[in-house]
Amino acid sequence: MVIKIEGLDFAYGAGKQSVPVLKNINVTIQKGMITAIIGQTGSGKSTLVQQLNALLKPTKGTVQIGDHVVTNKTKEKELAPIRAEVGMVFQFPESQLFAPTVLEDVMYGPKNFGATDEEAKKAAETALQRVGFDATLYEQSPFNLSGGQMRRVALAGVLAMNPQTMVFDEPAAGLDPQGQEELLNLLKSLRDEGKTVVLISHQMDQVLALADRVLVLKDGEIAADEPVDQLFSRPQSWFAEQHLDLPETIAFQKQLEEKGFVFDGLCKTVPDLAKAIKKQLDPTKIRSIGSTISENGEANHE
Ligand SMILES: Nc1ncnc2c1ncn2[C@@H]1O[C@H](COP(=O)(O)OP(=O)(O)OP(=O)(O)O)[C@@H](O)[C@H]1O
Ligand SMILES: [Mg+2]
Repeated sequence: MVIKIEGLDFAYGAGKQSVPVLKNINVTIQKGMITAIIGQTGSGKSTLVQQLNALLKPTKGTVQIGDHVVTNKTKEKELAPIRAEVGMVFQFPESQLFAPTVLEDVMYGPKNFGATDEEAKKAAETALQRVGFDATLYEQSPFNLSGGQMRRVALAGVLAMNPQTMVFDEPAAGLDPQGQEELLNLLKSLRDEGKTVVLISHQMDQVLALADRVLVLKDGEIAADEPVDQLFSRPQSWFAEQHLDLPETIAFQKQLEEKGFVFDGLCKTVPDLAKAIKKQLDPTKIRSIGSTISENGEANHE
């Protein structure tokens, strides 16, 4: 299922109170890929993803979600099937939890879409196991949990519904390093199963490691929409203009390039970067690119 946004403007509020947030957005979210959405705080990322399952309707333009076309005229009752196809883990997971116990919270989605109690319980338990949630806490109130555990419950709530498309708004926030690693593996395994994944993230290393394609938002407009390698091949000055960091390995690579190092492509991992640097420290290679290594280790063009 492809999601296609055309000519979309969005403003919160109406009339004089109206605040434009998204302007002339034209993007397609490709099936079976991980699309990352990045941009400075307040650039409109969370507002944009809420159009993907019609939690917010466009002020102008259309959002086509599979066979459903959503405009500002679309009635609420037409939106239910979309919610089954596009699941969303919100930026603030506590806003999405509501049931008296963890298990009931995660069972709610499948039950709402027609599963029996038994089926819903099975789906909920499988999803909770998959996100590494402690089984002894199933009967706890979701509101008594730590931030990281709440986020796991919110993740499980979406997994249990098994939607074709899953949207994660800053899912790593509140997770410890091990939890973040598990989350990365979860998102990769969802893609491997053919799911469409949309990920909002401030962590550029995570975006580099995971995303196939990246959308960059700036002040509510699309500043870039391209494959991840193409994006991170842009000059450092472009990222500074967007108020975005670079992934660590790429930042280091770009600094070396400024000093005269020449790389064949992007070094996405530390081992890749180390290998590429080692290659350049080979004297024959250095001579062939017309550079010398000075005493302080800098490569200088002659
Ligand atoms: N419910 C709302 N009512 C009015 N304005 C809102 C509402 N939600 C967000 N905004 C405004 O819309 C703009 C975009 O907000 P949004 O939350 O989409 O940005 P974001 O890119 O997700 O930011 P962050 O990185 O901080 O999560 C901001 O100026 C914000 O203040
Ligand atoms: Mg946000």
